[in-house]
Amino acid sequence: MSGERAGAAIVAERLTRRFGGRHALRGVDLSVPAGTVLALLGPNGAGKTTTVRVLTTLLRADGGRASVAGCDVRDEPAEVRARIGVSGQYAAVDERLTARENLRLVARLYGMSRGAARRRAADLLERFDLGAAADRPSGGFSGGMRRRLDLAGALASRPAVVFLDEPTTGLDPRGRAETWRAVDELVADGTTVLLTTQYLQEADHLADTVAVLDGGRVVADGTPERLKAAVGGERVTVALADPSAAGAACEALAGLGPYAPGADARAGTVTVPTDRGTRGLRDALDALEAARVEVRDAALAPPTLDDVFLTLTGRAQARGAPSDEGRTRPHARRRSGAPA
Ligand SMILES: Nc1ncnc2c1ncn2[C@@H]1O[C@H](COP(=O)(O)OP(=O)(O)O)[C@@H](O)[C@H]1O
Ligand SMILES: [Mg+2]
Repeated sequence: MSGERAGAAIVAERLTRRFGGRHALRGVDLSVPAGTVLALLGPNGAGKTTTVRVLTTLLRADGGRASVAGCDVRDEPAEVRARIGVSGQYAAVDERLTARENLRLVARLYGMSRGAARRRAADLLERFDLGAAADRPSGGFSGGMRRRLDLAGALASRPAVVFLDEPTTGLDPRGRAETWRAVDELVADGTTVLLTTQYLQEADHLADTVAVLDGGRVVADGTPERLKAAVGGERVTVALADPSAAGAACEALAGLGPYAPGADARAGTVTVPTDRGTRGLRDALDALEAARVEVRDAALAPPTLDDVFLTLTGRAQARGAPSDEGRTRPHARRRSGAPA
């Protein structure tokens, strides 16, 4: 029982899963201490949902083993289900019911008495800021409200471990902020949380530890701080007045940050990491002016998942976002500098 380290609420060891000939999971190892938040960070197709489905007993792994709240997901699925809450990428809310009715229903499904379910629903409505909308049909809710209702439902039974699969995908910034607050609430309660996300910022904000999943494997894990340190602070992105000056721009910006600059030929932009914030932005503009490279626009932004993947794997994501196409980085250094 090597995986039952004291205090680990979720343990996965060498989980594998194939769909037809295709490997979705190629040996996933995870260990999440009780009362902490793990973010499973990865692009579309990385295997996040498959991992969540195995851990929540909705899908069997082909190989490896896993336990949740001390129970084996294959041998004790009912015990696991009794101890977890799950909120999917697509909120499981009955639109014909009001928020209050939805929560009472879920609580009753978990075996609570009528009175206990009523009290639990009232408590959750309050905590998730749904009090004012409690008696309106949830079909008319905004995306953020719906997601909060779904989260509240996942908590109805006071689970020890909660799984949130892309809780903020598709939400606007306000809905995202609301969901983040809801997750913070969970954590304050001592619940163990495993959430999946495609956003480095979200992992940074919510998680104690991050596991980066790529092609069904954990390619890096550690604290968000370690991950960010390995990826190197923010990015300065400069739009060039003349895209053909990209080579000259890269030359001018070389040596400015911890990693080499890269050009996106199609967009006519050059990006260079910096660990000096706005100072780095100014230095970049100065260096370009000195090299007589004309700049149309410039911006400073935190690293994205694309940047993490470039740094950790030396290549763009297998299924990178459209904005990532055509971007080339001469070399992503520190290939082995990923957090262990
Ligand atoms: N039910 C399924 N049937 C066939 N292939 C699947 C199924 N579920 C997932 N996959 C494949 O497994 C890989 C991982 O998928 P998934 O776990 O959904 O990734 P993510 O949630 O990170 O986007 C993908 O290549 C996906 O197409
Ligand atoms: Mg998914």
